[in-house]
Amino acid sequence: MKQFINYAHRGASEYCPENTLLSFYTGVYMGANGIETDVQLTKDGVPVLFHDDTIQRMMGREGRLCDYTYAQLREFPMKTCGRTDYIITLEQFLESFSKMDLTFAIELKGKDVEEKTAALIKKYGVQDKCIVTSFQFAYLENMHAVDPCQRLGYLAPKGKITRELLDKMLAMDFYEICPHAEDATAENVQTWHEMGLHVRAWGVANEELMRQAYDNGVDGMTVNFPDKLVAYRAQKEK
Ligand code: G3P
Ligand code: CA
Repeated sequence: MKQFINYAHRGASEYCPENTLLSFYTGVYMGANGIETDVQLTKDGVPVLFHDDTIQRMMGREGRLCDYTYAQLREFPMKTCGRTDYIITLEQFLESFSKMDLTFAIELKGKDVEEKTAALIKKYGVQDKCIVTSFQFAYLENMHAVDPCQRLGYLAPKGKITRELLDKMLAMDFYEICPHAEDATAENVQTWHEMGLHVRAWGVANEELMRQAYDNGVDGMTVNFPDKLVAYRAQKEK
């Protein structure tokens, strides 16, 4: 039987500055058995964990992430929920978590990050623990070219999963389809399972959607509140 994965989305991002060590450790402490994060390159080509294109929301400064070097970015505090932490590199993340019994959903956010991401996944020996994802199909094609064995998942925008898309994924031996939680109906989940795809929901904005996606049979989901998913699963098992 497949193991259900409760991914702390950007860590336990409802409680901590997202994509930081504090957020990831909090998620693991809460009982998540997976971590989702976003990778893009700094101006000096360092793969760092950051979601947005610009740094305004998280760091309160002007400009795009790729306008700054890693040395500059690491000086900018990220404050949310009364907590503060700093940006980290993909390498720091893997140093901290690669030996833990966790699954990693690594989302390619920026371009040209595929080779460095693949090299770090290999360096830390976590190929089997990682699923590389993206909303950009081209980034996944690039990743497949760099490492044909790497498990891939396509993050499908809401309402955009077509038979043509699924055929393209199957032709490339994709591991996973990542539907928006509202698209993860029981019927759709069954269809995707019958195609041999793992199903992981994203966009789980609230507990109601979380319960709905879980009850519809997804194999995992990204949540900002992994503690609530742990509690729901425990309640269902009673
Ligand atoms: O679980 C994938 C999810 O992270 C996709 O949305 O915007 O958080 O990257 P976003
Ligand atoms: Ca993401």
